Amino acid sequence: MATTTFLLLLGFIVILTTPLQAQTPDDIVPISWVQNVIVKGAVCLDGTPSAYYYEQGQGDGANNWLVFLQGGGWCVNQTDCFNRATYGKSSGSTKNISLTFTFRDFLSNNPTNNPDFYNWNRVYVPYCDGSSFTGDVEAPDSRCSNF
Ligand SMILES: *[C@@H]1O[C@H](CO)[C@@H](O)[C@H](O)[C@H]1NC(C)=O
Ligand SMILES: *[C@@H]1O[C@H](CO)[C@@H](O)[C@H](O)[C@H]1NC(C)=O
Repeated sequence: MATTTFLLLLGFIVILTTPLQAQTPDDIVPISWVQNVIVKGAVCLDGTPSAYYYEQGQGDGANNWLVFLQGGGWCVNQTDCFNRATYGKSSGSTKNISLTFTFRDFLSNNPTNNPDFYNWNRVYVPYCDGSSFTGDVEAPDSRCSNF
């Protein structure tokens, strides 16, 4: 009898604690594409459109902004830049970019994990131009034009 009660109690505790541990869903944010990229000159190294991930601010954070620019160094000559645009995952192109991005740490919408910024407008800008976001490629390497 005591064992049954103990097992029931144990089961109850497991049921009670499991949802509490799992209550933080991932903050998965869909991609946004920059519109009219050619006119704006906001293209990646290979001429593909630039993009970002944005989650809207709420409450008293609605007018505050946190913009994170991904790092990644420069490419330094035509060969180096061609290689980055062609094989560099997302650092020279948005060709294979992920359509969602999980906001974590200081980008998270969870007040416990991210008490300072959780309800701010939060933007993650992937790096794709190989020149610290100064790029305005008007004539991408013609070998890249298969996107
Ligand atoms: C281009 O830059 C890379 C990386 O610094 C270097 O290894 C390569 O020799 C350079 N190529 C030319 C043609 O300058
Ligand atoms: C995109 O993915 C293809 C297929 O896996 C690969 O060949 C190509 O190098 C990738 N491009 C970039 C820019 O990562």
